[in-house]
Amino acid sequence: MELQKNPVDPRDIIRQLARMIAGNRLDPARHLLAAARSLAPEAPELVLLSVRLAIRQGRSVDALHELDAAIAADPLDAALFKARADLRSDMEDLPGAAQDAAEAVMLDRDDPEAKALLGVVLLELGQVADGGGCLAEAVAARPRNPFYRQGLARAQEAGGAHDEAAATLDAAIEANPARGDLRTGAVMLRLRQRDFAGALRLAEAACRDGLADACLFGLKGHALSSLERHDEAAEAYGEALKLGPDDPYVRHLVASAGMRPGAPRAPAEYLRAVFDGYAARFERHLIALGYRVPGLIRAALIRNFGLVPSNPAGTTARSVLDLGCGTGLMGVVLADLDLGPITGVDLSPGMLAEARAKGLYAELMEADILAMLAADRGSWPVILASDVLCYFGELSEVFTLVRRRLSAGGLFVFSVEASEAEAGWRLGPQGRYSHRRDHVEQAARAAGLHVRELVPETMRFEMNQPVAGLLAVLEAAPW
Ligand SMILES: C[S@@+](CC[C@H](N)C(=O)[O-])C[C@H]1O[C@@H](n2cnc3c(N)ncnc32)[C@H](O)[C@@H]1O
Repeated sequence: MELQKNPVDPRDIIRQLARMIAGNRLDPARHLLAAARSLAPEAPELVLLSVRLAIRQGRSVDALHELDAAIAADPLDAALFKARADLRSDMEDLPGAAQDAAEAVMLDRDDPEAKALLGVVLLELGQVADGGGCLAEAVAARPRNPFYRQGLARAQEAGGAHDEAAATLDAAIEANPARGDLRTGAVMLRLRQRDFAGALRLAEAACRDGLADACLFGLKGHALSSLERHDEAAEAYGEALKLGPDDPYVRHLVASAGMRPGAPRAPAEYLRAVFDGYAARFERHLIALGYRVPGLIRAALIRNFGLVPSNPAGTTARSVLDLGCGTGLMGVVLADLDLGPITGVDLSPGMLAEARAKGLYAELMEADILAMLAADRGSWPVILASDVLCYFGELSEVFTLVRRRLSAGGLFVFSVEASEAEAGWRLGPQGRYSHRRDHVEQAARAAGLHVRELVPETMRFEMNQPVAGLLAVLEAAPW
């Protein structure tokens, strides 16, 4: 009403509306939007604000319909295509998002925002070189823009150009020294590259500049513990916890700080946090690392049981217990063998959900494997642990529990990462344990398991270097 009595500049209303939406004052924004639409029904900004409001209210489909209609009415408005590209990307329609972003680039070839958007979407689609090219053009047009540089760094990292990615983020920090997110991104990049000294240097610089938040202190702790400076790491984790006691990332970093050398296994809470957060990306990531363990276990089972591939006849009734089944990759590689039914056990609900979606497991149990084995009364001809015992230092307890549950002649097939250290097992900076061959042999003997095979194998590749491991086939020795 007020609006109609006084002459109001619609641009003021639009600005106010934008502020309200950004400030999450959604109800008043809805009323103001209705008023603004009656004042300036043709204002193109109002479509974009209405779309933003709908998205904030969780009405993405309404927002999409509104954009579809607006684009049909004005197919030359690049801003509408950019908004729809953004929305489609959020709705996981990446091909649609790429099409819209490309349209926006064609409509305005000098718009770095459209190029950056296209670059990010192409990157998500796995088109790293093309995405990187678009992002490089956006950075060339706006060298100080932190988002374009972050995108370019991601593309460079994904393409294996690690030093260039680091340099891109360093340049972004130099241009925007007050942005904490850039500091965090640069530290995380160094951690992923296992450049722990570099990560620590950047984290310390952020602390000196008064930019360190809970996450940065947590990352500083990670870098310090990777450099085996555990007391300083504990201090940094303490700072992180003070600044962000409820931050889930900090909580999991702090939980991992409990994994000092000497801890005989990774805490279940830490593993759940890591794998729940990782579940959706797990398989893509492992494929990129050339992960070999499920395939090696499959080959060992074929060899030791004389199985014939592509013959899942199900005549032998060899049920399988898959310990730490994760997303169910063992289920996938065993699907054409005469083995099963398969029961999976894992402590991460996120990983179990991925396994469930595959429909290959007769049963999936959310449990710690030690607790499950201790409570179980079954007798299993096949027990597997693919890339799971790297979360245990001491192996005797698992082996003893497994022995009790193996049927006569049953096989326990698993992988461990290999260690040459003096002690039987070693906790590495990534929170994974590696084991000496003789520790595996001793723990097996003590548990009443006979070693049929214990062979050096490459587990996966990290930074293009093979990760050495051992593939073991143990058999229940007679009681
Ligand atoms: C690296 S993943 C391997 C998953 C799967 N076996 C594979 O080869 O793809 C390790 C899995 O073991 C699970 N895990 C680790 N320790 C565990 C424990 N003590 N009890 C149950 N699950 C565990 C993790 O949650 C994760 O899903």
